[in-house]
Amino acid sequence: MTKNEKAELYRFLTVAQGWAQGFRVETSEPEFADDGIADSRQEVPRSGFATVDDVACAVAHCEGCPLAATRTNAVPGEGPADLRAIEVMAIGEGPGADEDASGRPFVGKAGQLLDRMLASINLSRTENCFIANIVKCRPPQNREPTPEESAACREYLQAQIALVKPKMILALGRTAAQNLLGTSEGINRLRGSFYDYDGIPLLPTYHPSALLRDETLKRPAWEDLKAFRAELDRLKNAQA
Ligand code: URA
Repeated sequence: MTKNEKAELYRFLTVAQGWAQGFRVETSEPEFADDGIADSRQEVPRSGFATVDDVACAVAHCEGCPLAATRTNAVPGEGPADLRAIEVMAIGEGPGADEDASGRPFVGKAGQLLDRMLASINLSRTENCFIANIVKCRPPQNREPTPEESAACREYLQAQIALVKPKMILALGRTAAQNLLGTSEGINRLRGSFYDYDGIPLLPTYHPSALLRDETLKRPAWEDLKAFRAELDRLKNAQA
């Protein structure tokens, strides 16, 4: 129990005792012998995971939805080891065959294109960008994750966002954008505009797989990336 939790419980019990006995009791700040030890736990973010590695470990052992039964490897996500270097999170839908085989996000053809897209705006998974997915295990035949599968995985993504604290989020494709924004609007309408995700600017754009299927989407995707970079620079200048 943290110091605040203990103090709150102490105050509650003291006041309850006062009311039970028919008079008010003034409460003072209590001190506990293990305050110093408990205090360190207050650094743990709301999610309950202390580090990104803790999230990855939980994901690796997760049995929270049926996708666990068919995965080869869970794919928690990856980025630079130094979280302070991370400016952006790029979030896709879920692992495909290559990602399931390797345990790493976006390593197939779409991943190679994603790396080039990120590089074009000076972002990379080794320097300043964390790459994650809505679901951490491959849906069979690369089908879209069900709402139940996405919901079962949500705490992991939320924890990653809370720990990484990106300045901005790039939502890759309809599934990512819809899940993050809680909307059923299509990607053609969502893309190109900025939204607020828990205080973090979020831009939906086309998924790299869509760009591989349809060349005509490359131009609007490039416009999105340029707008994303401009907003990131604006934010960084404002914070400097
Ligand atoms: N597509 C995704 O959405 N995520 C991956 O990790 C790979 C392909």
